[in-house]
Amino acid sequence: MAGSAIGLGNIWRFPYVMGENGGAAFVIIYIAATILISLPIFVAEVLVGRNSERSAFGAMHAISGKRFWKWMGFLPVAIPLIISSYYSVVGGWSLKFLFSSVSGALVSASPDQVTGIFGSFISSTNGPVVFHLLFIFVCAVILICGVKAGIEKFSKFTIPALFVLVVIIIVYSLSLPGSMNGVKYLLEPGTQSLHPKAFAAAMGQSFYSLSLGMGVLITYGSYVSHKENLVVSSAGTALFDMAFAIMAGFAIMPAVFAAGLEPGAGPGLIFQSVPYVFNTMGAESPIISTVISVLFFLSVLVAAITSNISLMEVGVSYFMQKFSMKRILATVLVFLLCGGVGVLNALSFGVLSDFKILDMGLFDFLDTVSSNVLLLLCGFLSVIFVGWVMKKEDVKKEFTNSGSIEANVRIFGVFHFLIRYVAPVALVAIFVTNFIL
Ligand code: PHE
Repeated sequence: MAGSAIGLGNIWRFPYVMGENGGAAFVIIYIAATILISLPIFVAEVLVGRNSERSAFGAMHAISGKRFWKWMGFLPVAIPLIISSYYSVVGGWSLKFLFSSVSGALVSASPDQVTGIFGSFISSTNGPVVFHLLFIFVCAVILICGVKAGIEKFSKFTIPALFVLVVIIIVYSLSLPGSMNGVKYLLEPGTQSLHPKAFAAAMGQSFYSLSLGMGVLITYGSYVSHKENLVVSSAGTALFDMAFAIMAGFAIMPAVFAAGLEPGAGPGLIFQSVPYVFNTMGAESPIISTVISVLFFLSVLVAAITSNISLMEVGVSYFMQKFSMKRILATVLVFLLCGGVGVLNALSFGVLSDFKILDMGLFDFLDTVSSNVLLLLCGFLSVIFVGWVMKKEDVKKEFTNSGSIEANVRIFGVFHFLIRYVAPVALVAIFVTNFIL
Protein backbone atom coordinates (compact mmCIF):
# COMPACT_ATOMS: atom_id res chain seq x y z
CA MET A 1 0.00 0.00 0.00
CA ALA A 2 2.86 2.34 0.79
CA GLY A 3 4.44 1.50 -2.57
CA SER A 4 1.28 2.52 -4.38
CA ALA A 5 0.80 5.68 -2.35
CA ILE A 6 4.31 7.07 -2.65
CA GLY A 7 5.06 8.26 -6.12
CA LEU A 8 5.02 11.31 -8.34
CA GLY A 9 1.99 12.47 -6.36
CA ASN A 10 4.19 13.38 -3.41
CA ILE A 11 7.25 14.70 -5.11
CA TRP A 12 6.00 16.15 -8.38
CA ARG A 13 2.31 16.93 -7.90
CA PHE A 14 2.04 18.14 -4.31
CA PRO A 15 4.53 21.05 -4.62
CA TYR A 16 3.09 22.38 -7.86
CA VAL A 17 -0.57 22.09 -6.83
CA MET A 18 0.29 23.79 -3.54
CA GLY A 19 2.11 26.51 -5.46
CA GLU A 20 -0.93 27.11 -7.63
CA ASN A 21 -3.31 27.18 -4.68
CA GLY A 22 -2.04 29.49 -2.02
CA GLY A 23 0.94 27.88 -0.24
CA ALA A 24 0.64 27.58 3.54
CA ALA A 25 -3.17 27.85 3.65
CA PHE A 26 -3.35 25.02 1.12
CA VAL A 27 -1.01 22.91 3.26
CA ILE A 28 -3.30 23.36 6.29
CA ILE A 29 -6.42 22.39 4.33
CA TYR A 30 -4.55 19.42 2.86
CA ILE A 31 -3.50 18.16 6.31
CA ALA A 32 -7.01 18.56 7.75
CA ALA A 33 -8.60 16.92 4.70
CA THR A 34 -6.16 14.00 4.87
CA ILE A 35 -6.73 13.29 8.56
CA LEU A 36 -10.48 13.87 8.75
CA ILE A 37 -11.65 12.62 5.39
CA SER A 38 -9.03 10.71 3.39
CA LEU A 39 -7.74 8.56 6.23
CA PRO A 40 -11.22 7.18 7.13
CA ILE A 41 -11.87 6.60 3.41
CA PHE A 42 -8.53 4.83 3.09
CA VAL A 43 -9.58 2.47 5.90
CA ALA A 44 -13.02 2.11 4.32
CA GLU A 45 -11.63 1.08 0.91
CA VAL A 46 -9.21 -1.45 2.39
CA LEU A 47 -12.06 -2.78 4.49
CA VAL A 48 -14.31 -3.25 1.44
CA GLY A 49 -11.53 -5.13 -0.33
CA ARG A 50 -10.78 -7.40 2.60
CA ASN A 51 -14.46 -8.06 3.25
CA SER A 52 -15.34 -8.90 -0.36
CA GLU A 53 -12.04 -10.52 -1.31
CA ARG A 54 -12.61 -9.02 -4.76
CA SER A 55 -10.77 -6.51 -6.89
CA ALA A 56 -12.09 -3.04 -7.61
CA PHE A 57 -14.77 -3.59 -10.20
CA GLY A 58 -16.51 -6.51 -8.50
CA ALA A 59 -16.19 -5.69 -4.80
CA MET A 60 -19.14 -3.41 -4.18
CA HIS A 61 -21.41 -5.43 -6.40
CA ALA A 62 -20.37 -8.63 -4.63
CA ILE A 63 -21.17 -7.23 -1.18
CA SER A 64 -24.45 -5.47 -2.00
CA GLY A 65 -25.76 -7.58 -4.89
CA LYS A 66 -27.23 -4.38 -6.39
CA ARG A 67 -26.93 -3.53 -10.10
CA PHE A 68 -26.12 0.13 -9.45
CA TRP A 69 -22.82 -0.81 -7.81
CA LYS A 70 -21.98 -3.08 -10.71
CA TRP A 71 -22.29 -0.15 -13.06
CA MET A 72 -20.32 2.09 -10.74
CA GLY A 73 -17.48 -0.40 -10.82
CA PHE A 74 -16.64 1.09 -14.22
CA LEU A 75 -15.33 4.37 -12.78
CA PRO A 76 -12.45 2.85 -10.82
CA VAL A 77 -11.29 1.22 -14.05
CA ALA A 78 -11.58 4.31 -16.25
CA ILE A 79 -9.89 6.75 -13.85
CA PRO A 80 -6.51 4.94 -13.58
CA LEU A 81 -6.33 4.74 -17.37
CA ILE A 82 -6.96 8.48 -17.70
CA ILE A 83 -4.33 9.18 -15.05
CA SER A 84 -1.86 6.81 -16.67
CA SER A 85 -2.16 8.73 -19.95
CA TYR A 86 -0.51 11.80 -18.42
CA TYR A 87 1.41 10.12 -15.57
CA SER A 88 3.51 8.46 -18.26
CA VAL A 89 4.22 11.85 -19.81
CA VAL A 90 5.71 12.97 -16.48
CA GLY A 91 7.51 9.63 -16.37
CA GLY A 92 9.00 10.59 -19.75
CA TRP A 93 10.15 13.93 -18.35
CA SER A 94 11.91 12.09 -15.50
CA LEU A 95 13.64 9.87 -18.02
CA LYS A 96 14.79 12.87 -20.04
CA PHE A 97 16.20 14.53 -16.90
CA LEU A 98 17.96 11.34 -15.94
CA PHE A 99 19.69 11.44 -19.34
CA SER A 100 20.50 15.13 -18.94
CA SER A 101 22.01 14.43 -15.50
CA VAL A 102 24.16 11.63 -16.86
CA SER A 103 25.34 13.69 -19.83
CA GLY A 104 26.25 16.59 -17.55
CA ALA A 105 23.89 19.00 -19.32
CA LEU A 106 22.32 20.10 -16.04
CA VAL A 107 25.62 20.88 -14.36
CA SER A 108 27.25 22.57 -17.33
CA ALA A 109 24.38 25.01 -18.01
CA SER A 110 24.49 28.46 -16.44
CA PRO A 111 22.12 29.00 -13.48
CA ASP A 112 19.91 31.20 -15.69
CA GLN A 113 19.78 28.62 -18.43
CA VAL A 114 19.08 25.63 -16.24
CA THR A 115 15.57 26.69 -15.19
CA GLY A 116 14.69 27.20 -18.85
CA ILE A 117 15.80 23.74 -20.05
CA PHE A 118 12.48 22.25 -19.05
CA GLY A 119 10.40 24.91 -20.80
CA SER A 120 12.13 24.46 -24.12
CA PHE A 121 11.98 20.69 -23.77
CA ILE A 122 8.22 20.40 -23.19
CA SER A 123 7.33 22.90 -25.85
CA SER A 124 9.28 20.95 -28.46
CA THR A 125 7.62 18.18 -30.46
CA ASN A 126 9.74 15.05 -30.71
CA GLY A 127 11.39 14.94 -27.29
CA PRO A 128 8.33 14.78 -25.02
CA VAL A 129 6.58 12.28 -27.32
CA VAL A 130 9.58 9.98 -27.68
CA PHE A 131 10.38 9.95 -23.95
CA HIS A 132 6.72 9.39 -23.06
CA LEU A 133 6.46 6.44 -25.45
CA LEU A 134 9.75 5.01 -24.21
CA PHE A 135 8.53 5.24 -20.64
CA ILE A 136 5.14 3.62 -21.24
CA PHE A 137 6.74 0.98 -23.46
CA VAL A 138 9.03 -0.04 -20.59
CA CYS A 139 5.98 -0.25 -18.29
CA ALA A 140 4.12 -2.40 -20.83
CA VAL A 141 7.09 -4.74 -21.23
CA ILE A 142 7.27 -5.13 -17.44
CA LEU A 143 3.57 -5.99 -17.36
CA ILE A 144 3.85 -8.50 -20.20
CA CYS A 145 6.92 -10.22 -18.80
CA GLY A 146 5.22 -10.52 -15.44
CA VAL A 147 8.26 -9.06 -13.67
CA LYS A 148 6.10 -6.55 -11.85
CA ALA A 149 6.94 -8.18 -8.53
CA GLY A 150 10.66 -7.83 -9.32
CA ILE A 151 10.30 -4.13 -9.99
CA GLU A 152 8.31 -3.68 -6.81
CA LYS A 153 11.10 -5.34 -4.83
CA PHE A 154 13.52 -2.96 -6.48
CA SER A 155 11.39 -0.05 -5.32
CA LYS A 156 11.93 -1.17 -1.73
CA PHE A 157 15.42 0.27 -2.15
CA THR A 158 14.70 3.24 -4.33
CA ILE A 159 11.84 4.68 -2.23
CA PRO A 160 14.02 4.96 0.91
CA ALA A 161 16.79 6.29 -1.35
CA LEU A 162 14.41 8.93 -2.66
CA PHE A 163 13.57 9.83 0.91
CA VAL A 164 17.24 10.34 1.82
CA LEU A 165 17.87 12.33 -1.37
CA VAL A 166 14.93 14.59 -0.59
CA VAL A 167 16.45 15.27 2.83
CA ILE A 168 19.78 16.18 1.16
CA ILE A 169 17.95 18.49 -1.24
CA ILE A 170 16.08 20.13 1.65
CA VAL A 171 19.35 20.91 3.43
CA TYR A 172 20.96 22.26 0.28
CA SER A 173 17.89 24.13 -0.85
CA LEU A 174 17.64 25.90 2.52
CA SER A 175 21.22 27.09 2.22
CA LEU A 176 20.59 28.92 -1.08
CA PRO A 177 20.35 32.71 -0.92
CA GLY A 178 16.70 33.83 -0.97
CA SER A 179 15.38 30.44 0.13
CA MET A 180 13.79 31.79 3.32
CA ASN A 181 10.98 33.32 1.26
CA GLY A 182 10.09 29.78 0.25
CA VAL A 183 9.98 28.69 3.90
CA LYS A 184 7.71 31.65 4.68
CA TYR A 185 5.54 30.69 1.74
CA LEU A 186 5.10 27.22 3.23
CA LEU A 187 4.54 28.28 6.81
CA GLU A 188 2.72 31.61 6.79
CA PRO A 189 -0.89 31.36 5.73
CA GLY A 190 -2.57 34.55 4.67
CA THR A 191 0.25 35.89 2.52
CA GLN A 192 -1.45 34.37 -0.51
CA SER A 193 -5.09 34.72 -1.46
CA LEU A 194 -7.07 31.52 -1.24
CA HIS A 195 -9.46 30.67 -4.04
CA PRO A 196 -12.49 28.48 -3.15
CA LYS A 197 -11.19 25.99 -5.72
CA ALA A 198 -8.25 25.36 -3.38
CA PHE A 199 -10.51 23.14 -1.26
CA ALA A 200 -11.22 20.78 -4.14
CA ALA A 201 -7.56 20.93 -5.16
CA ALA A 202 -6.42 19.98 -1.62
CA MET A 203 -8.97 17.20 -1.34
CA GLY A 204 -8.15 15.93 -4.83
CA GLN A 205 -4.42 16.00 -4.09
CA SER A 206 -4.97 14.05 -0.89
CA PHE A 207 -6.99 11.42 -2.77
CA TYR A 208 -4.47 11.22 -5.59
CA SER A 209 -1.51 10.88 -3.30
CA LEU A 210 -3.12 8.12 -1.25
CA SER A 211 -4.36 6.27 -4.37
CA LEU A 212 -7.96 6.68 -3.13
CA GLY A 213 -11.08 6.47 -5.25
CA MET A 214 -9.50 4.30 -7.96
CA GLY A 215 -10.14 0.89 -6.62
CA VAL A 216 -6.42 0.32 -6.14
CA LEU A 217 -6.83 0.06 -2.37
CA ILE A 218 -9.89 -2.16 -2.70
CA THR A 219 -7.77 -4.54 -4.74
CA TYR A 220 -4.85 -4.35 -2.28
CA GLY A 221 -7.28 -4.72 0.64
CA SER A 222 -8.39 -8.03 -0.78
CA TYR A 223 -4.85 -9.33 -0.18
CA VAL A 224 -4.71 -8.12 3.43
CA SER A 225 -4.83 -10.94 5.97
CA HIS A 226 -7.80 -11.14 8.31
CA LYS A 227 -5.37 -11.04 11.24
CA GLU A 228 -3.87 -7.69 10.26
CA ASN A 229 -4.93 -4.54 12.12
CA LEU A 230 -6.00 -2.51 9.11
CA VAL A 231 -6.47 0.70 11.05
CA VAL A 232 -2.82 0.74 12.11
CA SER A 233 -1.44 -0.12 8.67
CA SER A 234 -3.73 2.41 6.94
CA ALA A 235 -2.98 5.23 9.36
CA GLY A 236 0.75 4.52 9.11
CA THR A 237 0.66 4.65 5.32
CA ALA A 238 -1.47 7.80 5.16
CA LEU A 239 0.59 9.75 7.66
CA PHE A 240 3.89 8.75 6.09
CA ASP A 241 2.62 9.69 2.65
CA MET A 242 1.52 13.10 3.93
CA ALA A 243 4.84 13.70 5.68
CA PHE A 244 6.71 12.80 2.50
CA ALA A 245 4.69 15.27 0.45
CA ILE A 246 5.32 18.08 2.92
CA MET A 247 9.03 17.26 2.89
CA ALA A 248 9.01 17.53 -0.87
CA GLY A 249 7.46 20.97 -0.39
CA PHE A 250 10.42 21.96 1.78
CA ALA A 251 12.86 20.60 -0.77
CA ILE A 252 11.33 22.45 -3.69
CA MET A 253 9.75 25.74 -2.56
CA PRO A 254 12.94 27.27 -1.09
CA ALA A 255 14.70 26.43 -4.38
CA VAL A 256 11.83 27.95 -6.36
CA PHE A 257 12.26 31.26 -4.55
CA ALA A 258 16.06 31.12 -4.68
CA ALA A 259 15.93 30.56 -8.44
CA GLY A 260 13.42 33.39 -8.90
CA LEU A 261 10.73 31.08 -10.27
CA GLU A 262 6.98 31.45 -9.78
CA PRO A 263 5.47 29.02 -7.23
CA GLY A 264 2.40 28.76 -9.46
CA ALA A 265 4.43 27.82 -12.53
CA GLY A 266 2.50 24.55 -12.94
CA PRO A 267 3.40 20.92 -13.58
CA GLY A 268 7.00 21.69 -14.47
CA LEU A 269 7.86 23.17 -11.07
CA ILE A 270 10.06 20.34 -9.81
CA PHE A 271 11.82 20.01 -13.17
CA GLN A 272 12.73 23.69 -13.11
CA SER A 273 13.69 24.11 -9.47
CA VAL A 274 15.55 20.89 -8.65
CA PRO A 275 18.01 21.22 -11.57
CA TYR A 276 18.79 24.69 -10.23
CA VAL A 277 19.77 23.09 -6.92
CA PHE A 278 22.01 20.57 -8.68
CA ASN A 279 23.45 23.26 -10.88
CA THR A 280 24.45 25.47 -7.92
CA MET A 281 25.82 22.43 -6.13
CA GLY A 282 27.77 21.61 -9.27
CA ALA A 283 29.58 24.94 -9.17
CA GLU A 284 31.21 23.73 -5.95
CA SER A 285 31.60 20.07 -6.72
CA PRO A 286 30.53 18.80 -10.15
CA ILE A 287 31.09 15.13 -9.35
CA ILE A 288 28.98 15.02 -6.19
CA SER A 289 26.27 17.04 -7.88
CA THR A 290 26.20 14.72 -10.91
CA VAL A 291 26.00 11.63 -8.70
CA ILE A 292 23.20 13.10 -6.57
CA SER A 293 21.20 14.29 -9.55
CA VAL A 294 21.51 10.92 -11.32
CA LEU A 295 20.39 9.09 -8.17
CA PHE A 296 17.56 11.54 -7.67
CA PHE A 297 16.07 11.27 -11.16
CA LEU A 298 16.62 7.52 -11.17
CA SER A 299 14.63 7.17 -7.93
CA VAL A 300 11.89 9.44 -9.26
CA LEU A 301 11.82 7.32 -12.42
CA VAL A 302 11.45 4.06 -10.50
CA ALA A 303 8.71 5.57 -8.31
CA ALA A 304 6.95 6.64 -11.51
CA ILE A 305 7.35 3.21 -13.12
CA THR A 306 5.96 1.31 -10.11
CA SER A 307 2.99 3.66 -9.84
CA ASN A 308 2.31 3.64 -13.56
CA ILE A 309 2.37 -0.13 -13.84
CA SER A 310 -0.16 -0.37 -11.01
CA LEU A 311 -2.36 2.15 -12.83
CA MET A 312 -2.07 0.20 -16.09
CA GLU A 313 -2.57 -3.13 -14.33
CA VAL A 314 -6.11 -2.10 -13.32
CA GLY A 315 -7.02 -1.87 -17.01
CA VAL A 316 -5.05 -4.96 -18.00
CA SER A 317 -6.76 -7.17 -15.42
CA TYR A 318 -10.13 -5.69 -16.33
CA PHE A 319 -9.75 -6.58 -20.02
CA MET A 320 -8.42 -10.02 -19.10
CA GLN A 321 -11.35 -10.84 -16.81
CA LYS A 322 -14.11 -9.17 -18.77
CA PHE A 323 -13.20 -10.26 -22.30
CA SER A 324 -11.10 -13.34 -21.48
CA MET A 325 -8.15 -11.72 -23.23
CA LYS A 326 -4.60 -12.97 -22.96
CA ARG A 327 -2.35 -10.77 -20.81
CA ILE A 328 -0.23 -9.74 -23.79
CA LEU A 329 -3.24 -8.58 -25.80
CA ALA A 330 -4.79 -6.74 -22.86
CA THR A 331 -1.48 -4.99 -22.20
CA VAL A 332 -1.06 -3.99 -25.86
CA LEU A 333 -4.56 -2.54 -25.76
CA VAL A 334 -3.84 -0.50 -22.62
CA PHE A 335 -0.50 0.58 -24.12
CA LEU A 336 -2.22 1.83 -27.28
CA LEU A 337 -4.97 3.55 -25.32
CA CYS A 338 -2.85 5.32 -22.71
CA GLY A 339 0.11 5.75 -25.04
CA GLY A 340 -2.10 7.29 -27.74
CA VAL A 341 -3.90 9.76 -25.49
CA GLY A 342 -0.54 10.37 -23.82
CA VAL A 343 0.96 11.59 -27.11
CA LEU A 344 -1.68 14.33 -27.18
CA ASN A 345 -0.90 15.11 -23.52
CA ALA A 346 2.81 15.24 -24.27
CA LEU A 347 2.16 17.76 -27.03
CA SER A 348 -0.21 19.90 -24.99
CA PHE A 349 2.60 22.22 -23.87
CA GLY A 350 3.88 22.63 -27.41
CA VAL A 351 2.12 22.34 -30.75
CA LEU A 352 -1.23 21.58 -29.14
CA SER A 353 -1.03 24.36 -26.56
CA ASP A 354 -3.81 26.28 -28.26
CA PHE A 355 -6.18 23.37 -27.89
CA LYS A 356 -8.08 24.23 -24.70
CA ILE A 357 -10.92 22.65 -22.78
CA LEU A 358 -12.44 24.91 -20.10
CA ASP A 359 -9.43 27.15 -20.53
CA MET A 360 -6.97 24.34 -19.78
CA GLY A 361 -4.58 22.45 -22.02
CA LEU A 362 -5.37 18.73 -22.43
CA PHE A 363 -2.79 17.61 -19.84
CA ASP A 364 -4.06 20.05 -17.21
CA PHE A 365 -7.67 19.26 -18.04
CA LEU A 366 -7.24 15.51 -17.58
CA ASP A 367 -5.19 16.00 -14.40
CA THR A 368 -7.73 18.41 -12.88
CA VAL A 369 -10.84 16.52 -13.93
CA SER A 370 -9.58 13.11 -12.86
CA SER A 371 -8.30 14.28 -9.45
CA ASN A 372 -10.60 17.09 -8.41
CA VAL A 373 -13.79 15.70 -9.89
CA LEU A 374 -13.75 11.98 -10.72
CA LEU A 375 -11.73 10.82 -7.70
CA LEU A 376 -13.94 12.83 -5.37
CA LEU A 377 -17.03 11.36 -7.01
CA CYS A 378 -15.68 7.85 -6.61
CA GLY A 379 -14.65 8.57 -3.02
CA PHE A 380 -18.14 9.85 -2.35
CA LEU A 381 -19.62 6.61 -3.66
CA SER A 382 -17.32 4.53 -1.51
CA VAL A 383 -18.24 6.40 1.69
CA ILE A 384 -21.95 6.09 0.87
CA PHE A 385 -21.35 2.41 0.31
CA VAL A 386 -19.54 1.81 3.61
CA GLY A 387 -21.57 4.31 5.65
CA TRP A 388 -25.06 3.57 4.34
CA VAL A 389 -25.21 0.45 2.18
CA MET A 390 -23.07 -2.03 4.15
CA LYS A 391 -24.54 -3.24 7.43
CA LYS A 392 -23.02 -1.45 10.41
CA GLU A 393 -22.29 -4.75 12.18
CA ASP A 394 -20.38 -6.04 9.15
CA VAL A 395 -18.31 -2.89 8.98
CA LYS A 396 -17.62 -3.11 12.72
CA LYS A 397 -16.65 -6.75 12.46
CA GLU A 398 -14.16 -5.98 9.70
CA PHE A 399 -12.84 -2.85 11.45
CA THR A 400 -12.25 -4.58 14.76
CA ASN A 401 -11.26 -8.06 13.49
CA SER A 402 -14.49 -9.48 14.95
CA GLY A 403 -14.14 -7.47 18.14
CA SER A 404 -10.69 -8.81 18.96
CA ILE A 405 -8.83 -5.49 18.75
CA GLU A 406 -9.80 -3.50 21.83
CA ALA A 407 -8.52 -0.11 20.60
CA ASN A 408 -10.40 -0.40 17.29
CA VAL A 409 -13.62 -1.25 19.14
CA ARG A 410 -13.22 2.01 21.06
CA ILE A 411 -12.66 4.22 18.00
CA PHE A 412 -15.22 2.54 15.79
CA GLY A 413 -17.92 5.05 16.75
CA VAL A 414 -15.78 7.97 15.59
CA PHE A 415 -14.81 6.19 12.37
CA HIS A 416 -18.38 5.34 11.50
CA PHE A 417 -19.55 8.87 12.26
CA LEU A 418 -16.82 10.32 10.01
CA ILE A 419 -17.70 7.96 7.18
CA ARG A 420 -21.47 8.20 7.52
CA TYR A 421 -21.87 11.95 8.03
CA VAL A 422 -18.70 14.04 7.96
CA ALA A 423 -17.05 12.67 4.80
CA PRO A 424 -20.16 12.72 2.54
CA VAL A 425 -21.21 16.20 3.65
CA ALA A 426 -17.66 17.54 3.27
CA LEU A 427 -17.27 15.97 -0.17
CA VAL A 428 -20.57 17.40 -1.42
CA ALA A 429 -19.66 20.81 0.00
CA ILE A 430 -16.26 20.73 -1.69
CA PHE A 431 -17.79 19.56 -4.94
CA VAL A 432 -20.40 22.31 -4.95
CA THR A 433 -17.85 24.98 -4.05
CA ASN A 434 -15.65 23.81 -6.89
CA PHE A 435 -18.39 24.20 -9.47
CA ILE A 436 -20.30 27.19 -8.22
CA LEU A 437 -17.67 29.58 -6.94
N1 PHE B 1 -0.56 7.63 -5.28
C1 PHE B 1 0.32 7.66 -6.41
C2 PHE B 1 1.24 8.85 -6.29
O1 PHE B 1 1.24 9.53 -5.32
C3 PHE B 1 -0.44 7.71 -7.69
C4 PHE B 1 -1.14 6.45 -7.90
C5 PHE B 1 -2.47 6.34 -7.69
C6 PHE B 1 -0.45 5.32 -8.27
C7 PHE B 1 -3.12 5.13 -7.84
C8 PHE B 1 -1.09 4.12 -8.41
C9 PHE B 1 -2.41 4.03 -8.20
O2 PHE B 1 1.99 9.10 -7.19
